[in-house]
Amino acid sequence: TYVVTENCIRCKYTDCVDVCPVDCFREGPNFLVIDPEECIDCTLCVAECPAEAIFAEDDVPAGQEAFIALNAELSANWKPIVERKDPPADADDWRGVKDKLKFLER
Ligand code: SF4
Ligand code: F3S
Repeated sequence: TYVVTENCIRCKYTDCVDVCPVDCFREGPNFLVIDPEECIDCTLCVAECPAEAIFAEDDVPAGQEAFIALNAELSANWKPIVERKDPPADADDWRGVKDKLKFLER
């Protein structure tokens, strides 16, 4: 399965959503996750993300392993998002900023 990691927090560009053939993205207030039960490993979303936030489960960057469980946990509570929408106005300011997990809203 594929996993959305920290770089998405407060960026939430949503370009990933438009290419997913199985609509497995789930939306929170300032972050998206992938439902691991639905993802078919097509890889299409990876190149679409301007924040380079999406990785294969086996390829998640060091220190970001907690996002594997977090995608599973949050996808059970959050609603599907199936169309791209405008990102937050300050999305570009948060791109590449480290240690954003503390800003995650549930
Ligand atoms: Fe959707 Fe494919 Fe990305 Fe999985 S890898 S979330 S199926 S676009
Ligand atoms: Fe997040 Fe990247 Fe999608 S920033 S919303 S994973 S395009």
